Amino acid sequence: MKRRDALKVLGSSAALVTVLPVLASGKKLALRLDKAEKLREVGGSVLLKIKDKDVLFIRTGEEVIRALDPLCPHKQCTVKYDPGQDLIICPCHGSTYTTAGKLLKGPATKSLTAFEATLSGDRIIFSMD
Ligand code: FES
Repeated sequence: MKRRDALKVLGSSAALVTVLPVLASGKKLALRLDKAEKLREVGGSVLLKIKDKDVLFIRTGEEVIRALDPLCPHKQCTVKYDPGQDLIICPCHGSTYTTAGKLLKGPATKSLTAFEATLSGDRIIFSMD
């Protein structure tokens, strides 16, 4: 696949990116920050398509990055991060979550699925398990 193809925006508005497995562990993946420029600043977020799944990344601190499954457990709408409120909100029926994915307000009855993610230099190391 050509680089231009890998970066094209898909129907879900998630950008398709290429990630590399971290050599020490087959389950962990590495995403270079130059593939997700919005995550260089605290408060930045980006929705990326990785291995056929959407992943919402949010930079919540200098050293803190969150990676979440953006599908709302209520009726599967794609949630969005609101940096003004520092909350994740579902545009369909208003379910509200912390940036760690914890449910604050329904109608959803479950929290978002959060993935392990850490910053390591210019890379995000994360898993999707
Ligand atoms: S689909 Fe998210 S609140 Fe209904």
